[in-house]
Amino acid sequence: VSKATCIVILQPVGRRVEVPAGTSLLDAARLAGVELVALCGGEGTCGACRLRPVEGRLSPLTRAEESELTPGDLSTGYRLACQAQVLGDVRVDIPPESLTAPQRLQLEGLEIPLELDPAVIPLEVEVPPPSLADLRADLTRLRDTLAGIGRAELHFSLETAASLPARLRASGWRLRLALRGDQVVAILPPGRGLFGLAVDIGTTKLAAYLVDLETGRTAAKIGAMNPQIAYGEDVISRITFANGHSDGAQTLQARLVEELNRMVGDLCAEAGVGREQVVEAVAVGNTAMHHLFTGLPVRQLGESPYVAAVAEAVEFPARQVGLDLAAGAIVYMPPNIAGYVGADHVAMLLGAGLGGVSQTTLALDIGTNTEISLFHQGRHLACSCASGPAFEGAHIKDGMRAAPGAIERVRLSGDVVQVHTIGGQPAVGICGSGILDTVAGLLKAGMLDGRGVLRGMHPRLQIKAGQAEFILVSAAESGTHRDIKVGRKDINEIQLAKAAIRTGIEILLADAGISASDIQSFIVAGAFGTYLDLESAVRIGMFPDLPRERFRQVGNAAGGGARLLLASTPQRAAADALARRVEYVELANDAGFMDVYVKALAFP
Ligand code: FES
Repeated sequence: VSKATCIVILQPVGRRVEVPAGTSLLDAARLAGVELVALCGGEGTCGACRLRPVEGRLSPLTRAEESELTPGDLSTGYRLACQAQVLGDVRVDIPPESLTAPQRLQLEGLEIPLELDPAVIPLEVEVPPPSLADLRADLTRLRDTLAGIGRAELHFSLETAASLPARLRASGWRLRLALRGDQVVAILPPGRGLFGLAVDIGTTKLAAYLVDLETGRTAAKIGAMNPQIAYGEDVISRITFANGHSDGAQTLQARLVEELNRMVGDLCAEAGVGREQVVEAVAVGNTAMHHLFTGLPVRQLGESPYVAAVAEAVEFPARQVGLDLAAGAIVYMPPNIAGYVGADHVAMLLGAGLGGVSQTTLALDIGTNTEISLFHQGRHLACSCASGPAFEGAHIKDGMRAAPGAIERVRLSGDVVQVHTIGGQPAVGICGSGILDTVAGLLKAGMLDGRGVLRGMHPRLQIKAGQAEFILVSAAESGTHRDIKVGRKDINEIQLAKAAIRTGIEILLADAGISASDIQSFIVAGAFGTYLDLESAVRIGMFPDLPRERFRQVGNAAGGGARLLLASTPQRAAADALARRVEYVELANDAGFMDVYVKALAFP
């Protein structure tokens, strides 16, 4: 039975829209303010509007789709948005090339001075060519040459050795070996540079960096959405997907690795480097992303008391997970701290320069789960709070991720409402920093009480079906031709999120026996943390009201930490030390939790 109205969820942009059954996906996307590339204007002849449905019912394949989509696309379920009509609630994944405007991805972070000491170093050798008088195998001649310079201990895997004959003959019997301890991980032409890959696997976003291992310089960087979003917005829904389908975990791993391989291809092209020159990788992510990437089981992560399968640092061949780098490249992942405080938090702390911090410092990375660390007098306390996806725009009626057309800044002064959208485009929704500003602005204007109820008089305030709503952009000016507004429910979502974060902060402070004013340095990491307005965060009570110079927004510090771990192996010992020293605080076990939380719920 077809439904009369269908809900279409568009990922990875995070927009949802209701449309009548029979609407094409292209029209549904337009209604949601998501512009797809449609070169032929929806005739079904350009193939540019391809996307991948993840669940739900669509009309059968059309002749146009059969001729425009490749056999590979057809077998993996791709459709053309202009051809497929919705027949029920559907969820689709839009590949980046089908979107007219890219998502905003946070790649920048602090550059921490590092002591260059990579795990892989080069060794140049010259091997004698074979002759009728010297019929030793290529590998034997190389081994004998190495023995002659005191390096008889070096090991070659069969995979690495496979490239030897061609390499020797192409490069005049001279080689550059990439050595990781006594393992040869790549055989390269002489003089070829060695590079490493640093990846931050976020639940929502991926950031990848190509680092020159001989200079420590970042040669190229790239961001992308995590393709696993199509299978679930947050960590819990991904774990549910992995557990609920026979090959669920493999699907999630395959989609992630496929995207990482694509990103490596782009990075290499930009830097003019071959994949075989990428001889080492460092990957960081929260515990669920870590387990899904490595292929470790996630079932126990989704069940109380939420424990990791493996918490210590791990190393494994890139090939083992399908990552296409140098033949013998190894992936290193730093240790996880506890269930929901993962290796990405360890990397963030290193990337923010907190490896050996002595000041009283609080550092947090806001996401669906917000991880918080407090350093005080030699102690390191950490916790994770379930802040929810409100700041990702989810659970907010007109919410969306930070993509073009998202309202990211809001200023209320008197009757005037000023909004700024990403890319300066007509507004199609509100992202996290925009909704944060809105709530802060309403509070400042006295239009919100402590419980989050909208009140007062304002030309933008309207009561509809007994519900007060504040209109940010009217239908006449928006990109969706509908009002973009914030209501009580949206405000409550922000209230829950900020209360969760503030509660985590307060409980760590109480455990350390100090108060907020003792915090000498307050570090905000991550993409949302970069774009949020500090004044707004303080006004709604999410952050304590400290002198502003104590706050520091550090960008993607987890990515920075991954780069450090790549270029400087002593940092790996520092990561172990951080993870070992940390005292993990389980908020749910804290006797004072409810009192603190209830207090944090109210607006100041
Ligand atoms: S818009 Fe050209 S094929 Fe769909």
